[in-house]
Amino acid sequence: MKPFNLSSRLFTTVFWQGILQNTDQWRSELAALSDALKRLDDLRTAADYNTGSISNSAAWCLYSLARYFQPLHVIEIGTFIGKSTWALAQGMDDHQGGPGDIFTCDLSNNIKVPWTGKTKLVQFPKTSSTEMLKRLSGIHDLCFLDGRVGDEDLKRLDSLIDQNTIIVLDDFEGMEKGVANLKNLKTMPKLANHFLIYPASENYLQELGFTSHSTVAVMLPLSRVALSNQG
Ligand SMILES: C[S@@+](CC[C@H](N)C(=O)[O-])C[C@H]1O[C@@H](n2cnc3c(N)ncnc32)[C@H](O)[C@@H]1O
Repeated sequence: MKPFNLSSRLFTTVFWQGILQNTDQWRSELAALSDALKRLDDLRTAADYNTGSISNSAAWCLYSLARYFQPLHVIEIGTFIGKSTWALAQGMDDHQGGPGDIFTCDLSNNIKVPWTGKTKLVQFPKTSSTEMLKRLSGIHDLCFLDGRVGDEDLKRLDSLIDQNTIIVLDDFEGMEKGVANLKNLKTMPKLANHFLIYPASENYLQELGFTSHSTVAVMLPLSRVALSNQG
């Protein structure tokens, strides 16, 4: 007998349907997040290195991931103007657990994210991921990578995650950094059994009312997957 084979492509569809299933119910949270993202865009004038930020649909994917999985301890690489930081922090604030914390660094920028919610935000401005990871301790539930990670980062990350840590990658398209990061991360034994979830499809995001696309992919530990008869 052959086992049932669930590919990344097939799983991706149901994964985002599950994660984003409350989008209609959470319209006021989405509106509040969109307003916050607009305000964060103004911080670009303070950037030493003015670069790309995440789209509104990507921010909603991050918000929904944080609200769904309810991580308490989060690492982010690549703060820039803080759209992703804010989306994760708001998703963490809006679930029942917590309050949690987010440690976030940016090598080139020194922009203070004007976050005032319950989730504790610890920023490492003008600090490389290697340097920040050196200063952290404990096991983290979720890591969002929006900067490029190297061998030294992987060594340090190894002591800050376990087999149940969810890894989220931005810029997962073509030959961009999300794909390069996946290739590097896959060399870590702790992540060997993580399952790749591609970014939510443009069609599905359009159905939900978004005009932007998302490049947010997820490396999901199989320990975070449960089968249920209803839902
Ligand atoms: C695409 S932007 C991040 C956008 C941000 N997540 C947002 O939502 O606005 C990437 C940022 O990561 C920083 N960066 C890239 N690689 C890094 C690294 N290894 N360590 C720290 N920061 C890094 C860059 O300086 C840049 O500001």
